[in-house]
Amino acid sequence: MAGKPLVSIVSAGLSKFGRREGTMCRELFAEATKESFDRCSNLDPIKDIEALFVGHMGESYEHQGHTGPTLADWTGLLPKPAIRIESACASSGSALRTGIMAILSGLHKIVMVGGVEKMTHRTTAEVTEYLAMASDMPFEQWNGITFPGLYALMATAHMNKYGTTEEQMAQVAIKNHHNGTLNPKAHMQKEITLEKAMNSKVVAWPLKLYDCSLITDGASCLILTRPNIAKKYTDTPVDIIGSGQASDTIGLYERETLTSLKAAKIAGQNAYNMAGLKPKDVNVAEVHDCFTIAELLAYEDLGFCSSGEGGKMIQQGTTELGGKLPVNTSGGLKSKGHPVGATGTAQAYEIYLQLTNQAQNRQVEGATIGLTHNVGGSGATASVHIYRRN
Ligand SMILES: CC(C)(COP(=O)(O)OP(=O)(O)OC[C@H]1O[C@@H](n2cnc3c(N)ncnc32)[C@H](O)[C@@H]1OP(=O)(O)O)[C@@H](O)C(=O)NCCC(=O)NCCS
Repeated sequence: MAGKPLVSIVSAGLSKFGRREGTMCRELFAEATKESFDRCSNLDPIKDIEALFVGHMGESYEHQGHTGPTLADWTGLLPKPAIRIESACASSGSALRTGIMAILSGLHKIVMVGGVEKMTHRTTAEVTEYLAMASDMPFEQWNGITFPGLYALMATAHMNKYGTTEEQMAQVAIKNHHNGTLNPKAHMQKEITLEKAMNSKVVAWPLKLYDCSLITDGASCLILTRPNIAKKYTDTPVDIIGSGQASDTIGLYERETLTSLKAAKIAGQNAYNMAGLKPKDVNVAEVHDCFTIAELLAYEDLGFCSSGEGGKMIQQGTTELGGKLPVNTSGGLKSKGHPVGATGTAQAYEIYLQLTNQAQNRQVEGATIGLTHNVGGSGATASVHIYRRN
C-alpha cells in the first residue's frame, strides 16, 4: 500500500565531521551512537537494539576490516549480530535499506544502522587511490582516472549537451558552503564567493577545488523500529515511507548516457512509487553532491526539474534555504564533508532533524516530507529514501 510506513526512526546521531586527529573509526562511531542513545531515554540500547548494519567503504584507510563487530564492541552492542555493508560512497544508504529489510522481514523489531570513515590521516594521493577502487579496475583505475576525473567527464558532457556552465556549478558550492556555516557539525564553516570558486585551482577540468567534496572523518547512525512501537520510544518519530535502490555498470564508459545516473533515476522512481508521492511533494532533500555537477544531475534524476534544467534551477535559487525546495541544508558533502561510509545515514540524520524541528538556524519551516539521495562511486549504486513527519 503506497505511503505505508516501512519503519520509523526513533533517534539519530552524528559525530562532529572534520579532521579528527587521534581518533579511529570506532571512536567516531561511538560518538555518533552516544548522541542517539542520549536523545532516546526510553530505549535501553544494550537490551533493545537487536542488530547493527553499518556502512564502511574501505579497510585501507585504517588497515582495519571486520568493521561490524568492532563497532558493536565500541557501542556496547555485543553480542548482537553486526554486519558491515559496502557500496562505496553509498555504503550507509545501503545499510539503511538493509535495516529496513531486516525489520520488514519480521526478524527484528529494533535495529541500528549507520556508517563511518576515517580518511584525513592519509595523504590526498592515498585517499584518491583508495576511492578509485570503487571504479572499474581494468579500464578506469588502470588508466589512471580518478573520481574527480570521472565526474569531470559527466560535467563536460552536461555542458556540451545542455549548455551548463562552470558558474552554475560554482553556485552549488556557494549555496552548500553557506549552509555549512549554519551547521556546527560541518567540516568546513566558510562562506565562499563566485570569484573565489571560479579562481580556485583546477582539479580535473572543469572541476576546481570548490567543485569537490571534502576528505573528512565522521560517523552517523539511526535507530529504526517497527512503526507500531515507535511512540514507545519517542513522541516524534519520523517514518520512512519509500526506499529505492538500483545498480548500474561499474564503468562509466559502459553507460547509456553521461548526463544522467540511471540507477538514481530508477531508485528515485521506486521510492516515489512506494511512498505514493511525486517530486513536487518533497519539502527538503539531501542529495549526493560529491562534485557540484552531481547535485545538478540529482535535481534532474529525482524529477525536481527536467533533464538539462539543473543549472537553471540552482541559478533561480529554488534549492537555497528559503527557496521552494531547500537542498543540502546540512552543507552537503561539499561543506559538511564526505566521510564516504558515513554519508548515507548522515543525510538521513539531517532529514530527521528537519522533520522533527531540530535543525535550528537552518530549519525549513513546516517541512513534512524529506528525501535522501546517496550515490556509490560514479553511479553504479544509488539509494533513495523518502521520509514523512509522523
Ligand atoms: C579537491 C582535493 C583534491 C583537494 O585536496 P588537496 O589538493 O590535497 O588539498 P589540501 O588538503 O592540500 O588543502 C588545501 C586547502 O584547500 C582546502 N580544501 C581541501 N579540499 C577542499 C575542498 N574539497 N573544498 C574546499 N576546500 C578544500 C583545505 O582546507 C586547505 O585549506 P587551507 O590552505 O586554508 O588550510 C580533495 O579534497 C579531494 O580529492 N576531494 C574529492 C574527494 C572525493 O573524490 N570523494 C569521493 C567522491 S565520489
